[in-house]
Amino acid sequence: MDHRNKYDFKDFVEDMTDMVERSQNDKVCVLEAERLVGKLIQSHSWLPAEKRRPSDGGYSRHPLYCDPKDRFEVIALVWKPGQRTTLHDHDETWGAEGVVAGQIKVTNYIRLEELSGGKIVKLQQTDTIVVNEQNTGTLLPPADCHILEGVGDYPAITIHVYGKQLRKFREFTPLEEEGLYLAQEKYVEYTAV
Ligand SMILES: [Fe+2]
Repeated sequence: MDHRNKYDFKDFVEDMTDMVERSQNDKVCVLEAERLVGKLIQSHSWLPAEKRRPSDGGYSRHPLYCDPKDRFEVIALVWKPGQRTTLHDHDETWGAEGVVAGQIKVTNYIRLEELSGGKIVKLQQTDTIVVNEQNTGTLLPPADCHILEGVGDYPAITIHVYGKQLRKFREFTPLEEEGLYLAQEKYVEYTAV
């Protein structure tokens, strides 16, 4: 057992709570949340076995913590190789994400314009990266749209912190005109395990 790294999930929740109490600014929040996620994923003995279970029907989603004042939530996602999200946003909140195990491919987009009252959105792809174990990333509107996919030879586990409990998001389907996408609102489903 490794006794050098004693930073566990309880410490993480305490630090996150202190941070959201102090910070009024999403830009600062997201960077600090990313730093704390980076610290948390240095080890993963804190993540119980039932929160590491993959699913055959798509990536699995395991809620870990929700701030009682709804200033942040923490979830774990488990990806078998090839399981992926659609292109989606995060209901206007910020996010910090880290890879606990395995590898994930992230394709990032920025929102350039909202048209027809948000039913059509202009997006631009910014980058595609493979994120390895112990690495992190962020989402901050308008750079808050992406596709995630499990890659590699075994299931990947990722930790996600959002600036509120994420109940809904939008999925984007490409339209004929390049860069334009149809936006459809969806509600978050939790994996019952
Ligand atoms: Fe996402």
